[in-house]
Amino acid sequence: MSLSMTEDTSQSKTYRVWDRPTRVFHWINLLLVLSLMFVGLIMLFKSEIGITGLAAKIGLKELHTVIGYLFAINLIIRLVWGFFGNRFAKFTGNLPKIGAIKQYQTALRAGENPQYLGHNPTGKLAVLVIMLILTVIMATGLIRAGTDIYYPPFGAAVTQYIAAEGVDATSIKPYDKTGVDKAKLAVIKPYKSLAGTVHLYSAYFLMLLIVLHIAGVIIAELRHQPGIISAMFSGKKRIVGTPLDK
Ligand code: HEM
Repeated sequence: MSLSMTEDTSQSKTYRVWDRPTRVFHWINLLLVLSLMFVGLIMLFKSEIGITGLAAKIGLKELHTVIGYLFAINLIIRLVWGFFGNRFAKFTGNLPKIGAIKQYQTALRAGENPQYLGHNPTGKLAVLVIMLILTVIMATGLIRAGTDIYYPPFGAAVTQYIAAEGVDATSIKPYDKTGVDKAKLAVIKPYKSLAGTVHLYSAYFLMLLIVLHIAGVIIAELRHQPGIISAMFSGKKRIVGTPLDK
């Protein structure tokens, strides 16, 4: 059993909730997502900020992709941990339920303050949507990296496919049609475009989710459950009364 009580006062109890891998994932993910957004926005507005050369354009994509690998590794570890972690890290314990969300919202409107050790029912929905969108961004980013700048894990297969008859696939360079079979390049193009569009709109959607997430956490911290922000650092939550998911 992962839950352990570490402190007991007459007013409140402190519980160990978020395990170390969950906390480490959260903060590394935050840093990497911010870095990816920063480089991604520079890529989007490069002309406006005076970046015009092809080498610089490709360099930005390579930088974004290398940070993207770290993001992908961190996310994959977290997804795997979702099967092995403590009950607050596991996916099985964190799936949102419409009935529970309605009940929670009704209780809040009635002036009650239900307490949870793990995520509250609305928080579970937020976490699921964020995890799904991060996974979509990871998958489309990797496809785009493979089809646009021929980076792993799909780049080698793409260059093998588009190399003209008798051309060494490793000689094919991004944004250079030398040695490329144009008909095969045209076959790849719709997949590349689709991945790019989904990647971009998912990134915009994620930015919106981040704003909502931060607003939700601040409101919860101030009105309902003081200490939830520090809990993502310490792993411990201090709760007054009996948590509903004890
Ligand atoms: C939360 C994570 C991420 C965010 C917020 C993000 C954001 C962005 C943004 C805003 C762009 C510019 C889109 C454009 O120029 O059309 C972009 C492009 C790109 N991203 Fe990401 N990205 C993320 C993760 C990744 C990952 C994990 C990879 C792969 C390892 C990746 C690979 C790429 C590539 C190759 C492009 C260039 C697309 C192009 O301009 O043709 N991204 N990303």
